[in-house]
Amino acid sequence: MHNKIIIYPGTFDPITLGHMDLIERSLKIFDKVIIAVAQNSNKKTLFSFTERIDLIKQIFTGNKKIMVDGFTGLLVDFAKTKNCYAILRGLRVVSDFEYEFQMSGINRILNKDIETLFLTPSEKYAYISSSMVKEVAILNGSLTKFVDPIIQIAVEKKLSSITAKSS
Ligand code: COA
Repeated sequence: MHNKIIIYPGTFDPITLGHMDLIERSLKIFDKVIIAVAQNSNKKTLFSFTERIDLIKQIFTGNKKIMVDGFTGLLVDFAKTKNCYAILRGLRVVSDFEYEFQMSGINRILNKDIETLFLTPSEKYAYISSSMVKEVAILNGSLTKFVDPIIQIAVEKKLSSITAKSS
């Protein structure tokens, strides 16, 4: 019998309220969630690998149901090392479907014992993505409705350090 742990992978550059909404929902079904921060993403990130992990740890500090870990290489291999046979992904809008369908199919070919489960976030988070959050911040918009205050402060700090370096 597999234990009720689900793995939630992503780049999380940065984690948003949409991601957090999904994590909360998954805990209605699963006992624990491992938030798996991918290092080898094709994306050029604002936050380093360790910064992305540390920020998520800060948000969920003290919550025994949520673990945060980084991984390199294949997601299914990482999941197996954690004895975890379920992957959580979010479907926000119809356009997410094709890519998610493909990714879950590839992961199934790579490891037939690992299932992908999809949840939809609250509709108020359906439009959020990490890129949009960064764009709003760069253009001096408020992040209050998109991210946790810890992330808001971190994004502001990061952007001002980049501006200071380039001036
Ligand atoms: N709320 C807010 N934003 C959400 C969201 C939600 N509920 N769900 C998704 N998003 C956003 C993410 O923030 C991200 O935004 P961005 O593109 O602006 O950064 C986007 O939607 C999803 O990006 P995507 O590229 O689909 O996923 P990801 O970057 O979060 O993670 C991995 C992709 C890491 C899971 C995937 O690349 C992976 O598994 N890599 C490991 C290598 C591997 O095993 N490859 C084989 C599998 S194909």
